[in-house]
Amino acid sequence: MRTHTGIYHVIVAAGSGSRFGGELPKQFCPLADGRPVLMTTIDNIRSSHTGEVILVLSHEMIEPWLQMCHAHHYASPSIVTGGATRWHSVKAAIDIIPNNAEIITVHDGARPIVTPRIINAVIETVRQGADGAIPAVAVTDSLRHVNADGHSSAVKRTEYRAVQTPQGFNASKLKAAYSLPYRETFTDDASVIEAAGMDNLVLVDGETTNIKVTYPGDIAIADLFLSRQ
Ligand code: C5P
Repeated sequence: MRTHTGIYHVIVAAGSGSRFGGELPKQFCPLADGRPVLMTTIDNIRSSHTGEVILVLSHEMIEPWLQMCHAHHYASPSIVTGGATRWHSVKAAIDIIPNNAEIITVHDGARPIVTPRIINAVIETVRQGADGAIPAVAVTDSLRHVNADGHSSAVKRTEYRAVQTPQGFNASKLKAAYSLPYRETFTDDASVIEAAGMDNLVLVDGETTNIKVTYPGDIAIADLFLSRQ
């Protein structure tokens, strides 16, 4: 598999969505258009940028997803079976991407409101030489650091950013980082590449509307943002 652009977009959607509750993981719940969240995510990636899209699903959701695609006359991207954690799911996709790829982006399937501006900013930043480009937004809530004993103390909110996806990486550097062993502290791809000693990570402006559908009420918020696009 090699795209004419050398760019691969991995969409991870193999999570069980335990915080969401309900029978279906959040990325398969319907938005106002009656289609699963994941279809809007894929559509927005596809219409924002050329490049091969690889979808990561859990083994048990592959058949239901194909049925959803059939019902909505939807052409699924290539599917890879995910793993126990997000890291294992991303790794499964990275392992099938050829070594001559140039840029890999990784996006959460549960973030349907990804815009062309973010993905193009991420890709352009990597093209200009960054190891990775990370969309991030300022934190608006006050933050407290909590110790193991439960004691908490205020931290300087201006020193922190909330990190989003899609994150983009130099493909060979991301592949090298994912060849190292798994650590429990990995929550995103930037943390993986940083642990591999590559620290040329550039923050690009994220968007406050680029939410990750996590709790049931987030579906209505996503619909509202999508209706304003
Ligand atoms: O759990 P969290 O919300 O951080 O998951 C972020 C993204 O990673 C989601 O799109 C989820 O489906 C995906 N994921 C995955 N495989 C896992 C766990 C999470 O693809 N084992």
